[in-house]
Order: sequence, then C-alpha cells, then structure tokens
Amino acid sequence: MSSRVRDLDDSAPQTSLVLPRMLAAGAAAGAAGLGYAWCEARWFALRHVTVPVLPEGAPDLRVLHLSDLHLTPYQQRKREWIESLRALEPDLVVNTGDNLAHHLSVDPLLDAFGPLAEVPGVFVLGSNDYFSPTPRNPLRYLSPGGRRYTKSKALPWQYLVDRLSDAGWTELTNRHAELTVKGVRIAFAGVDDPHLEYDDLRAVSGPADRDADLRVAVTHAPYLRVLDQFARDGYDVTFAGHTHGGQLCLPVKGALVTNCDLEPARAKGLHRHPAASAPGDPGSSWLHVSAGAGTSPYAVARFCCRPEATLVRLTRKPHR
Ligand SMILES: [Fe+2]
Repeated sequence: MSSRVRDLDDSAPQTSLVLPRMLAAGAAAGAAGLGYAWCEARWFALRHVTVPVLPEGAPDLRVLHLSDLHLTPYQQRKREWIESLRALEPDLVVNTGDNLAHHLSVDPLLDAFGPLAEVPGVFVLGSNDYFSPTPRNPLRYLSPGGRRYTKSKALPWQYLVDRLSDAGWTELTNRHAELTVKGVRIAFAGVDDPHLEYDDLRAVSGPADRDADLRVAVTHAPYLRVLDQFARDGYDVTFAGHTHGGQLCLPVKGALVTNCDLEPARAKGLHRHPAASAPGDPGSSWLHVSAGAGTSPYAVARFCCRPEATLVRLTRKPHR
C-alpha cells in the first residue's frame, strides 16, 4: 500500500512537465523555422530554363525574367544582387511587375538595373507597383485566392513607367508591341494586372502575328482567363509572376497557394498551358511563372521557395 502511494506521488511531477516541455519545444521549432524563413528570403538564386519556341535558323536568345522584386530603398543586399545580374548579358529582359514596396524605390531600382535597362526589355505592372504594402498577417498569404489591397497609399507607378520607358523598355499595359532582337522579330502582347482586374483582354485579343518569328505574352498575375486567351490566340509563351512560387512551401509537396486561380502545381517554373497539353497541340502554349525575388516588407519570409531571377534560353523547336 505504501509502495503504491509512493509510485503515484512520484509520477505526478513528471506528468505536469510534459505539456510545458512540448510547448517549449514547439516554440523553439517555430522560432527556428521563422529564422530560417527570414534567411531564405535573402538567399537569392538564378534559375535556368530552356524553352524550344524559335523557328529554324533563329539564334538562341537569352531572356532574363525578373519579377516581384518588391524593392525598398534600404534593401542593399537585394540591390547588389540585382546589379550582379548585369553580368548575364541577356539579349532581352522581361519584367512582370511588383517592382516596388516603397514610394522612394523607383530611383534605387533604376540604379540597380543600370546597364540592364539599356538591354531590350518589356514590362507590365503589378498591384504592388500601384499601391503601398500594408502590415498584415503573413499567414493570410496562405488563404486561397488571395486579397486585393487598393486602399493603401498610391505608389509612383507613372514615374516608374516613365523611367523604364525612358531607359528603353517597352510597356505592355493592355497593348501590343514588336521588337527585333538579334534579328528575331518578336510580337508581344501584355495586360495590366489581372489580380486587380485591370486587365483589358479585349484590347489585346485576336490572333497573334503569324508573320513574326516568335509570339510572347506578358502578364503580372497568371489568372486562367488571361492564360487561356493568350494560348487560344497563338502566343508561343506567356511570362508571369505574382505567385511568389507559393512563398511558404512544404518540402516535397511545394506550393500550397498561388494567390490567384492558377493551381499550386504551376506556382513557378516552366509548364504548358493548358496544363495537360503538349507542344504542337492546337491552342496551347508554354507558361513560365517566376517565383519572384521579393516579399512584402511586412512578411519577409520564404520557405522552400528561394527568391529568384530566371535566365530563360529560347531555342529552336525540335524537328517534327
Ligand atoms: Fe509580388
């Protein structure tokens, strides 16, 4: 009897410590995860992709795809990384928007681009070029469909457009354009940000120029209505950003959300659109989604999704 009572008394303090220890371990793991995610958001990467879209006889083109820089004037490390991209000597730059995260970012951005802005380039704007970021719960990023923030202070988007245009890049806001790069005639179409429903598809719909050597479409957010339209109209490849690659991803599984109606499996990288189509299928095209290089300054965290730029090598289509 006395032994049994002693046993029960001995176990009581151990049981009472289990929950606090579990909570402490959980808090430590959470803090470590947040610390890692904060570091990963500064661990910039260059991804390489090859897209076979050029006609016989055309030279390969090196396209630097930039997106979602979300630059603030005090992000010196990011500015230096952007400057380092000049060494890639691309033939063409495609910028799919969300450049800004501060009303004083335009000049530092152009300084960081430097000679890159003198390379032939095209661009569209994203919601974060129009409106200042605001504090928010970063876990809201994981809510399906995302949110639209249009009540915050306006950013100097027109000054951004003017600076990029003056430098020589071509704006593709709900319009067509044409550039010849290394002798390759490229027909472009672009839309204003579909996430804000600023896209005017009627302004750019219609068959893509079949006489051009290449047809390229550009959008900030890869909403399906936009991708469907460009694929139907015969664009060979669409460039997009916005998704941040899911930003907070799971190992192996990858992205959980895209902040639009694109499915998470295509949150970043090179895919077909429609997803199940193959090269040569009527009404299908390539889709390249950049995971982007930044985050909101109020949610500086990435997990299993490094910030990136992509060097896209456009090469000849295979013989049939
Ligand atoms: Fe973004």
